[in-house]
Amino acid sequence: MALKGLRPEVLSMDPYEPGKTIEEVRRDLGLEKVIKLGSNENPYAPFPEALEAMRAEMRNANRYPDIAFEEIKGLLAGIHGVGAGNIAISHGAEGMLQAMGKCFIEKGDEVLLPSATYGLYREISKLMGARIVDVPLKDFAVDLERAAEAVTERTKLIWLCNPNNPTGTIVDPCLLDRLFEKLPETAWVILDEAYAEFAPKDLLPDRARLISGGRNLVSIRTFSKAYGLAGARLGYAITSEEAVTVIDTVSEPFNANRIGIAGGVAVLTRDREACERARLAIIADRQRISGSLQRMGLSVVPSHTNFVFFETPFPAGIIADELLKQGVIVRPCSGWGYDRAIRVTVGTTAEVNVFLETLEKILKGMK
Ligand SMILES: Cc1ncc(COP(=O)(O)O)c(C=O)c1O
Repeated sequence: MALKGLRPEVLSMDPYEPGKTIEEVRRDLGLEKVIKLGSNENPYAPFPEALEAMRAEMRNANRYPDIAFEEIKGLLAGIHGVGAGNIAISHGAEGMLQAMGKCFIEKGDEVLLPSATYGLYREISKLMGARIVDVPLKDFAVDLERAAEAVTERTKLIWLCNPNNPTGTIVDPCLLDRLFEKLPETAWVILDEAYAEFAPKDLLPDRARLISGGRNLVSIRTFSKAYGLAGARLGYAITSEEAVTVIDTVSEPFNANRIGIAGGVAVLTRDREACERARLAIIADRQRISGSLQRMGLSVVPSHTNFVFFETPFPAGIIADELLKQGVIVRPCSGWGYDRAIRVTVGTTAEVNVFLETLEKILKGMK
């Protein structure tokens, strides 16, 4: 029976398609050993001090968190060279993305969206009743020149995933400067930097300069990737103090939980070395994956993230299914319009070895 009374915008939405879980694959395929390389998680985490801090904080789970989030905001401000008043905390980056929709998108507003990017932007835009303008990628990268050409006086918001999921590419920061020059003064750029810790700092936009220079920019970050706390659901934004006040007003009052905050503080302080070791191992294995795939004759897009996007001569669904049968979960990219592309998360070094050996055998068998 169809539900009555729903907003038409709600009916226009497609449900989020999560990657398969280890439990699901074990159960469905009766496999003992399953390697999950489909959701861009950190295989080396949770880090020891974060785990301990979260355990200890459970004792206070009957109390609401302190919504000033003072300690973690102070730490993040120091890392990013901004004031604590420039940081807003959220329930994962997703929570912050939802807040962006509520803050900025009115029914009928034009919203620019790269044609292959993180899927939630499209769903949030639809929910808010936006008019979506797709901007095709160029050589697998977000095309900011084309985006600038698509700007009109009705443009209200631009979703920019940098580095981009699923392709792993980054944009030239000078092009972002030029895009800002073309934007109407009511338009905002939402810069989703979920994977920024895996990219060289000097290739990323200088968010502190842009914000202090009065640009309408919200940079969104997460503890789910480099910091290894995906299950603890902690994200944040870096933006102007005025925008932080608005975001906090629009968001639910307790929009991060005590356990996640305790883990986040520990990872930024006492786990720094373990976290950095993991980050470097991931970057080294990312290079190794790219090199090995190229030696197999596959085409690989250079990545600035903790995953690698590559194409094979075969349909992505078939390759992903074959890998799944051998206990390796990856993400086929057909849903993004790349019928022969796969996105693989960089796992531990041992997991990467299994992935590469399994894929090579599958490809040999298909020739
Ligand atoms: C580009 C991008 N943004 C946001 C998110 C969601 O992050 P979080 O776990 O902090 O909600 C993801 C998760 O995969 C992502 O790929």
